[in-house]
Amino acid sequence: MKVHLKTYGCQMAKLDTALVTGALKTKGYSLTEHIKEADVVLLNTCSVREHAEQKVLSHIGQLKHIKKQKPDLVVGIIGCMAQRLGDDLLEDGTVDIVAGPGQIPEIIEMITKAISEKSRQVSVADNIRKAGPQNPALEDFESVYDTADKDIPGQAFVRVMRGCDNFCTYCIVPYVRGPEISRPVDKITEQVKRLADEGVKLVTLLGQAVNKYKSRYIGTAGDKTYSLADLLYKVSEIDGIEWIRFVTSYPQKDGFIELMQAMADLPKVCNYLHMPAQSGSDRILKAMNRHYTAAEYLEMLDAARQIVPDITIAGDFIVGFPDESDKYFEQTVELVKKARYKNCFVFKYSNRPGTTADNRLQDNIPLEVKKQRNYRLLEVQEKISEELSAEFLDKEVAVLVEGPSKKPHLNAAESQGRPQLVGRTADDWIVVFNGDESLAGQFAKIKITKTSPLTLFGNQI
Ligand code: SAH
Ligand code: SF4
Ligand code: F3S
Repeated sequence: MKVHLKTYGCQMAKLDTALVTGALKTKGYSLTEHIKEADVVLLNTCSVREHAEQKVLSHIGQLKHIKKQKPDLVVGIIGCMAQRLGDDLLEDGTVDIVAGPGQIPEIIEMITKAISEKSRQVSVADNIRKAGPQNPALEDFESVYDTADKDIPGQAFVRVMRGCDNFCTYCIVPYVRGPEISRPVDKITEQVKRLADEGVKLVTLLGQAVNKYKSRYIGTAGDKTYSLADLLYKVSEIDGIEWIRFVTSYPQKDGFIELMQAMADLPKVCNYLHMPAQSGSDRILKAMNRHYTAAEYLEMLDAARQIVPDITIAGDFIVGFPDESDKYFEQTVELVKKARYKNCFVFKYSNRPGTTADNRLQDNIPLEVKKQRNYRLLEVQEKISEELSAEFLDKEVAVLVEGPSKKPHLNAAESQGRPQLVGRTADDWIVVFNGDESLAGQFAKIKITKTSPLTLFGNQI
């Protein structure tokens, strides 16, 4: 049996894809990149913005055509959109399997049944916010299968928290991923050890608000409640792991200094902080249910830079949130100028059904204005990225090589006929250079010869 598996979501979703891939392979399924060869097509989906869902719906539309020629093709929708839409996804007759993010351990059984019984299979959480926070099946699934990145050698995501309890008013995640729960310390360290044995060098610890991590652990040294900082000390002890990242951080003062201190103390912890502000307007932040002001946020960045002087910071912003006036948007522009991010991700507000913003606020900023603000913010950021990247000229950096670069960055003369590789520094700068493909998954030293806002170029030394 051949399975075509495509992922639309965030890093959490990519991690789920890695787990499902592991389960499929163990049970004798093979993966194919070609839909035409596939007996089963699985789409791992995202609900965070309407656009993300539209992409999946149009993919289902294509599959409907394919299914006309190949009626036995089994189509499964898994992940956040499956949880949000449930049975509704079955309506046009294309989809056979629907499984929410908490139900992926059932996926093999569901596929088997869908094939042998030719029956529709739906498994999503009934009342996800009331669901018990512990999900033993998910914890087992997570502990058994490999979470190493299949496309990028030497790297793996490790979930340290599931779900989210923050309820930012625009956000669907708490409704599709369920209540916030920290995974046990020993499960995480066992998993990281296994990954290290497989040759993984970089682990990225994942949580929606990862700095809220809190888990009680009774070990030989007694009873202790671990924070994310404590966990970083613990994961740092694991031989073979060279770099550790964690995303995404919520701008909360609680535990922040300790976390930055851990980053400063621990050589393996990358000096990289992804901490979205979402807006620079206190009025909008309040309406978003984000529990900080712009000034407090900037104070946190100052504290981070004092403790870890060469820290690199990245952020996310939503433009066109309900009632975002020009004045409020300008406050966001000001914050971006002051924050001096390496890069930031900018999203146009998308109303998500069932969220507090959907219930209480009007999506009243025209699309054209959202687009202009998106463009403007990226323009301001690009200038800052350009200034920051220029500082790398003639410097030497260490990168973990990811593999061949997908788009050609260098011209033929510059690349001298050798493959163009892409790697990243510990603080997440992208570096393009010429080298042998066998370097993928290894560290390399690069001297930077050219810079651009988001990418550095250089030669291996
Ligand atoms: N838990 C993470 C990321 C959540 S989703 C965090 O809190 O930072 C990733 C990003 O998508 C968010 O940071 C936010 O900027 C954006 N996002 C979430 N919901 C959105 C919506 N309804 N419309 C537009 N962007 C959204
Ligand atoms: Fe969504 Fe806020 Fe939770 Fe992030 S912290 S997942 S934005 S509710
Ligand atoms: Fe991730 Fe999208 Fe779900 S951002 S958690 S896949 S809604």
